[in-house]
Amino acid sequence: MERNNQPQPTVFVIFGASGDLAWRKLIPALYNLYLDDELPKRLAILGIGRKAISDEEFRAHLRDGVDQFSRRGKTEKKSWDEFAAHLNYLAGDLAEKQTGTALAEQLRQFDQTWGLEANRIFYLAIPPALAETVAGQLARLELCKDCRRDRLVVEKPFGHDLASARALDLTLTGMFSENQIYRIDHYLGKETVQNLLAFRFANALFEPIWDRRYIDHVQITVAETVGVGSRGGYYEHAGALRDMVQNHLLQILCLIAMESPVSFDADEIRNKKVDVLRAIHPIKPDKVHQYAVRGQYGKGQIGTQKTPGYRQEEGVAPDSSTETFAALRLFIDNWRWQGVPFYLRTGKCLADKVSQVSILFRPVPHQSFPASAVENWQPNRLVIRIQPEEGITLRIQAKQPGTRMVLAPVDMQFCYSDAFNTTAPEAYETLLLDVMRGDATLFMRADQVEKAWEVIAPVLESWTSVPAGDFPDYRPGSWGPEAAAALLTQDGRNWFEPVASSAKCGEQEDKE
Ligand code: BG6
Repeated sequence: MERNNQPQPTVFVIFGASGDLAWRKLIPALYNLYLDDELPKRLAILGIGRKAISDEEFRAHLRDGVDQFSRRGKTEKKSWDEFAAHLNYLAGDLAEKQTGTALAEQLRQFDQTWGLEANRIFYLAIPPALAETVAGQLARLELCKDCRRDRLVVEKPFGHDLASARALDLTLTGMFSENQIYRIDHYLGKETVQNLLAFRFANALFEPIWDRRYIDHVQITVAETVGVGSRGGYYEHAGALRDMVQNHLLQILCLIAMESPVSFDADEIRNKKVDVLRAIHPIKPDKVHQYAVRGQYGKGQIGTQKTPGYRQEEGVAPDSSTETFAALRLFIDNWRWQGVPFYLRTGKCLADKVSQVSILFRPVPHQSFPASAVENWQPNRLVIRIQPEEGITLRIQAKQPGTRMVLAPVDMQFCYSDAFNTTAPEAYETLLLDVMRGDATLFMRADQVEKAWEVIAPVLESWTSVPAGDFPDYRPGSWGPEAAAALLTQDGRNWFEPVASSAKCGEQEDKE
């Protein structure tokens, strides 16, 4: 029997089970939940993929993924064998009738063996273009029809642009009810991203100064050192704007900018977030160059390793105009944020793997210290490190020890690893458990996804219609193209170079 707080008996079906996502993320997450005793006792994980492999081969492949990517490191035989007993594989293409019939039969058998109607989760770990076909089959076969028990998880990007996202939504909501559809954005499952809500709304300290009167601007950086690697085929049709900005970066922006929720009810939080997206000042098509910068990495060297340029990656056109770097300058038209720029940037092959939000406060209204005291003066800055070395740093001014009055910036630090002596679950662990529990708070609602597409639509259109003449335009291991710096210097500001990911919590924060 399941414990009170464990999910109900569940069949977890993964479409695209022989792919990368299941191997690197989904199964390691499910395995960790299993080790933490969070999963129901009556659990079946059924992978569906095109590769013709046996259950045993499937399990061995997944174990290899867990060994490499689990936060707990290598598996132990006993626990793995116990977990693996829940794993089954069905080879086939869901577009074909016989795969559907075989799936229906397997689901029926689980229910029969357990003597109940189990919850069913259908996880679409497949390219966006196939989502409609698979969902359509599920609907036709009536496998996902009970809106209390059956759920569909859809990976991002949700659609390819505003029109296709709307079309996909129309199809899905025509077949399933909204509360069955879980649109996943794994950033929302990250501890530090969730902590943004705790930080802002569980502390009275910051909320009174969280607006245009005290905040000068906000910077959101999500940087990666890796290139697109084997994902060129997918990335070529996505680019940084669709792959990262439309979802992860805009979600972070929403959490920074949203109004306080009345409750932690899923819809209340999502309403407040969608309000932010609705208030983002639309970028005029002829002004895109003033608000957005794109870039693409060329050939180079990181450390001693020679790296290919994006155009040399597998599955990428030799004259590709796909951006591997994107930066935006956004404004939010409401009382709280009028006139406060939000600068967002993300890219592959950058100098460091780091995600962080920097909130720059305005200078003091009157400088009473003598000029000699304030040579090193810097405005207050709050840095929220999403990864790595998760934590929060507040930069304040202090008097330097000595006989003279000289001010120097110092950092007050909160580090997750020091404060809580425990490892945080991976984002996918949190999110998969939430799906099993039927809690949609950390998932995106249809209107949120559409509004996010609306925000970037003018940029997408402009970049698609005019190929980039200067690509490749940044060096691997740098912080992106020079034009990204100009986006801030035109406003008299600079990007903060995030603290190196190798730095330990407690080291001085980023420099300008
Ligand atoms: C995914 C993108 O959503 O997020 C990838 O598709 C990207 O291109 C990844 O590498 C980054 O996630 P994380 O959790 O490693 O920051």
